[in-house]
Amino acid sequence: MAHISDLIGQDIEAYLHSHQHKGLLRFITCGSVDDGKSTLIGRLLYDSKMIFEDQLTALEADSKRIGTQGQEIDFALLVDGLAAEREQGITIDVAYRFFSTEKRKFIVADTPGHEQYTRNMVTGASTADVAVVLVDARKGVLTQTRRHSYLVKLMGIKNVVLAINKMDMVDYSQKVFESIEQDYLAFAKQLGGLNVTPIPMSALRGDNILERSSRMPWFHGTTLMGFLETVPLEHDRLSKLAFRMPVQWVNRPHQDFRGFSGTVASGTVQAGQRIRVQPSGREVNIARIVTQDGDLTHATAGQAITITLAEEVDASRGDMFCTAQSPATVADQFQAHVVWMAQDTLMPGRSYWLKCGTQIVNASITKIKHQINVNTLEHIAADKLELNAVAECNLATDKPLVFDSYADNSGTGGFVLIDRLNHLTVAAGVIDHPLRRAQNVQPQHFQVNKEARARLNNQKPCVLWFTGLSGSGKSTIANELEKKLFEMGHRTYVLDGDNVRHGLNKNLGFTQEDRVENIRRVAEVAKLMVDAGLIVITTFISPYRADRDMARTLFGSGEFFEIFVDTPLGVCEQRDPKGLYKKARKGEIKNFTGIDSAYEAPQRADITINTQTQTIEETLVQLLKILP
Ligand code: ADX
Repeated sequence: MAHISDLIGQDIEAYLHSHQHKGLLRFITCGSVDDGKSTLIGRLLYDSKMIFEDQLTALEADSKRIGTQGQEIDFALLVDGLAAEREQGITIDVAYRFFSTEKRKFIVADTPGHEQYTRNMVTGASTADVAVVLVDARKGVLTQTRRHSYLVKLMGIKNVVLAINKMDMVDYSQKVFESIEQDYLAFAKQLGGLNVTPIPMSALRGDNILERSSRMPWFHGTTLMGFLETVPLEHDRLSKLAFRMPVQWVNRPHQDFRGFSGTVASGTVQAGQRIRVQPSGREVNIARIVTQDGDLTHATAGQAITITLAEEVDASRGDMFCTAQSPATVADQFQAHVVWMAQDTLMPGRSYWLKCGTQIVNASITKIKHQINVNTLEHIAADKLELNAVAECNLATDKPLVFDSYADNSGTGGFVLIDRLNHLTVAAGVIDHPLRRAQNVQPQHFQVNKEARARLNNQKPCVLWFTGLSGSGKSTIANELEKKLFEMGHRTYVLDGDNVRHGLNKNLGFTQEDRVENIRRVAEVAKLMVDAGLIVITTFISPYRADRDMARTLFGSGEFFEIFVDTPLGVCEQRDPKGLYKKARKGEIKNFTGIDSAYEAPQRADITINTQTQTIEETLVQLLKILP
């Protein structure tokens, strides 16, 4: 007998095929128990052609990865887990319903609203593009509303419909609507990053579901269906990311053929392309992309393919094929946000199976950094986690894990923790970033050392660390300085903010934490370059004193010079070489240094440059003087 997942898989594919011309929107409905979800979904389906629906346990859904067309089923684990769930009397369901209108086709994940079903929410949300958060107009925003919104945000959904339902029960009162709207928007603002579309409705009466309600003439927004049919589709989001394919199995039907099968998790891959096999790091060219329907020149996210390689390379299940230019991270320690979904308490130090794509490793939580109160978003100290707790944790694995941060790639940055004894899924997590843990790495000592390299280069390697506002002139001065040093026969390198942020640090933004990390990495890279014997010029705003001080500690005396390009904000803003200040003033860029993000000027810079009073020649003289 075919497995349920196979059947559904085929049906989905047939379905998707017959509606290929239409875009597919995946959404999730969530909210408290009696907020009227079933009625709402009934309404939506009423006028649309419903294809079929099916109930899945969270675990089945977990393995199915609906909406990516291809399937990824870890059979052994799935069967074990299902048996365990049934034995324990767990009948948790995520109901997926498929329907379509003139304009679009839809998959809605309907998840039970009971408190204990957080894990369904997580499962449903992990593949959705939009969340419809239901609120009962009589009750307003509840803890459950907040919890679900938190999870929606955590799982990377950006578009939220705040469906204020049962408006008929409050006389279609504009006041009630607006008060709930305000409540929710305040919470959403705290969460950050959500686009909220509030709609007053009555699922029961059909107000503002498919048709605009005449009973709420004060509301000028869109209907729910209007929104769902027009919200920009994100379905090709994954295909725009870097190429990743977790190897599911090695396909070796005979001596002359060795293929690696799997589903493309993200990006596009082409025959002939160079890839890196992680975690080994081996690079190799792709020979062929093979499918049942013949060879392909390229394949994108969601497609199940078999890849053959131009050379014999050792790879097996659990390895990941990545684009060589931008490979996934390999680390055995990382920080993650974890949603604890089991009755048993989570204890740091206990060992679980961690399943991330096709990888299964042993893992433990080494530290609960803090728990998050989903109502207030406060951070709470915690040494263990109970059912439904959300926490920021450090995890360690017994083998190197290949992943991306979830924010960069939701296809390769999520994981589940599985109880080793009863095989229940006990937690879902999204990876924030790898940890830097020097203790696992033994430094190697090479005989060609810094001194030897410096001697050969005939210079004293050092860092000239420029700091100052955007537009202060850091890059301009650095450019002139490097030209000068180059003419003098020095070996130099410029690490520049805008450049490094396109490569090494492209996963970082401009929040305080990201800037700290930006500077940490740059400081480490500068250190390596000094070790390599270069004169390094760095041009980063580096707005925080503590981080510049941290950078200094990485270097010996006479190796690090802090150079303050002291151009007042007014002048930078007037120059505005990239037009960014203008945008920041209009509120189009958030956290802009000098506007709504702090700049802490150095107190003891080695050199201060005033770009208004001194010429570039004078500046160069000043700079060359301090070079050892
Ligand atoms: S730092 O604060 O982390 O040191 P960094 O020097 O790497 O910043 O990057 C600054 C450059 O990024 C600016 O020159 C500007 O071109 C661009 N930029 C984009 N958004 C911001 C922002 N919110 N604040 C400052 N710079 C920004």
